[in-house]
Amino acid sequence: MCGIFGYIGKKDPIPICISGLKQLEYRGYDSAGIAGIFQGKIRSCKEAGKIARLEKKIHQEHLNLEFAIGHTRWATHGKPTDQNAHPHFDDKSTIALVHNGIIENYQTLREQLQSEGVRFLSETDTEVIAQLIGKFYENDLLAAVQKTLPLLRGSFAIALIHANHPDQIVAAARQSPLSIGFDDEHSESIVSSDPNAFLISTPNVLFLRNDEIALVQANRIRVFNSQLQHIDKKIERLENDYQAPSKGGFEHYLIKEIFEQSSTIQKALIGRLNEEKATIDFEQFSLSDETLKNVSNIWILGCGTSAHAGWIGTMFFEDIAHVPSSVEIASEARYRNPLLTPNTLVIAISQSGETADTIAAMREAKQRGCKVLGICNVANSTLSREADSTLFLKAGPEMSVCSTKAFSSQVAVLSLFALHLASLKGLGKDEMRRYFNELKKISGHIQQVLEKASLLQTIAKKYAHYDDFFFIGRRYMVPTGLEAALKLKEISYVNANGYPAGELKHGPIALINQKFPVVAFCANEQTHEKIVSNLMEVKARGAPVLAFAPEGAHGISNIVDDIFTLPPCIDPFAPFASIVAGQLLSYYIAKERGCDIDQPRNLAKSVTVE
Ligand code: M6R
Repeated sequence: MCGIFGYIGKKDPIPICISGLKQLEYRGYDSAGIAGIFQGKIRSCKEAGKIARLEKKIHQEHLNLEFAIGHTRWATHGKPTDQNAHPHFDDKSTIALVHNGIIENYQTLREQLQSEGVRFLSETDTEVIAQLIGKFYENDLLAAVQKTLPLLRGSFAIALIHANHPDQIVAAARQSPLSIGFDDEHSESIVSSDPNAFLISTPNVLFLRNDEIALVQANRIRVFNSQLQHIDKKIERLENDYQAPSKGGFEHYLIKEIFEQSSTIQKALIGRLNEEKATIDFEQFSLSDETLKNVSNIWILGCGTSAHAGWIGTMFFEDIAHVPSSVEIASEARYRNPLLTPNTLVIAISQSGETADTIAAMREAKQRGCKVLGICNVANSTLSREADSTLFLKAGPEMSVCSTKAFSSQVAVLSLFALHLASLKGLGKDEMRRYFNELKKISGHIQQVLEKASLLQTIAKKYAHYDDFFFIGRRYMVPTGLEAALKLKEISYVNANGYPAGELKHGPIALINQKFPVVAFCANEQTHEKIVSNLMEVKARGAPVLAFAPEGAHGISNIVDDIFTLPPCIDPFAPFASIVAGQLLSYYIAKERGCDIDQPRNLAKSVTVE
C-alpha cells in the first residue's frame, strides 16, 4: 500500500518524481525508490526509510534517468528493507514496476513461478507482477500486461517500464486509484496515485477504471480495456489548489494543526449558517430536500478518527434530527449484511478520501441502491468523486499523520448536516437559531483551551512516564475519549484504552492500580453525576486521575489529582473543546517521550489497502 508516481517528458524526471512522491508520502513512508531508463538500460535506486533518504542516495550515486517511475511504501508484505522497497524487477532486469495494493494470491503465483525456475529477490507480493509480465513478454509489453492482469486477485495500481520501450510507461489499475495527467501543450505526462500530487496547476486528468491499461507517452496517452480495445476516456480538468506545506513557525505539523482549529472550525461553518432564514446552506449539494425528507435511517462509515467523528454524528442525528442512525467501522461494514433500504442514507467520512476500507464500503452501499453522502477534506479524492454528494471540511491540508483539525471539522459538518435534516423534518426556527448561537461559540471555546496549552504541557510532564492509560467518558464524551486515546497511542506508543466510563466495572477496572492513570472527559452535563461516581470508583483503586471538566463542574476537583477546566457548553458541542485539550495532552506527552510526532512508526496518513 503506497503511493506511485511516474513522469515522462522533456524535463529531468528525478526532481519531479521526488516532489511527486513527497506529495504522496501520506500514503506511507517505510521506504522509497525510483527507476527509469538511461541509455537503453533500467537504472534504479531504492532505500528503506523516508523519501529524504532516497534523495540523498540518488545524489550520492549520480543517478541520471530519461524518464522515471517512483514509489513510497507502507509495508504490507515483507519488512521495510531496501530489498523490499519498490520498484521490483523481472528476472532479466528489463522491467521495473511500482505497485499500490495487495495481490491476495501472490503465494500461489510465486510458488508457480519458482517451480519454473524464476528467482525472487524480495518478500513482496508486488514482485510476482513484474515476474509474470516478464514471463509473458514477447516484444509486446501491452500484451504481456494484458495476460498478467487476469491472474491477479486483489487490488492494484501499477506503473511499469521496459528497457526495450524507452518512450513509455504502462499503467493499470483495479480497485486502487490511478490518475494520468498531462499539460495543455501535451509535452509531458504524469501517472500518480493521487491527482493532487501533479505539480501542474490545472492538469488534464483521466482516471483508470478496473482492469484498464494505459500506454503513457510524453505526448500521447492511450487507454485500453482488458481485451486491449481502445477506449475513449473522459478527460477532466482539475483545479489543483496546491499549497506548499509549511509548519508556520511551529515545531511540528501536529501542533500547528491543533492550533489551527479555532479558525478551521469557522471555515467549516462560514457561509453555511443562514441566520435570516434559520436554515443550513450547503454549496454544491446535490441531495434534494425530497430525498432527505424521506431518509428513514443513517448508516455512517469511517475508519479511525473519522469513525469516532461518525459516532458523535449518530448522537447528533438522534438528538437533533430524531433520525435513527448507527456508525460502523468501514473495514467491517462491507462484510456485514446491514438492513439497508432505499431510504437509508449512507454517510462515508474520510479526511483523505482515499482510505480503501471506507471506499470499498461506500461502493458496496451504492451497489445496494443507497445514496451516499461523503464528508471529506480533500478535493478530487476518490471518495469525493464517487459519492452522490460531498460536504467538504475546508480545513486545508492536514500533514501530520495524527488527525486533529479534520476531526473537529468533521464533527462540525456532521452537526450542520443534522441541523439541515432537522429543519427539513420540521425543527422550529427558534430552536435552529439556538443551535446556531451555540455553534458560533465553538471557535472561542477552542481558543480558550489553546491559550492554556502551557498548563497542559506541565500536566503532560507529570503523566509522560506512564505506559498505560484509560480514557473514559459518557455519552458525547465516549467517542471524544476514544479519539483522545487514539491520539496518545498513535504518537506516543503508549497503551491508551478508550472506554465508556460505565463499562469499566464490567472487567477493565481489574487493570487499575497506581501505575494506571485515568483521563476522564467530564463535559457531558446529562451524565455528570454518573461520571463523578466513576471517578470515585477508579480513585478508590489507586489510579492517578486527570479530569477535563467544565469550569464550575460540581464535585470533581476534590476527587481527582489534576483538573483542566473547559468553557461550559451544551452537551452536543462539548466534544470540540474537550478534544483539543486531549490532543494537546497527547502532543506534549509524545514530545516528552521523544517520539517521531508527525510520522509515527508503522503508520501512513492514508491507508490505501483493505
Ligand atoms: O483519511 P481518513 O479519514 O479516511 O483516515 C482514517 C484513519 O486512517 C485516520 O483517521 C487515522 O485513524 C488517523 N491517523 C488517526 O489520527
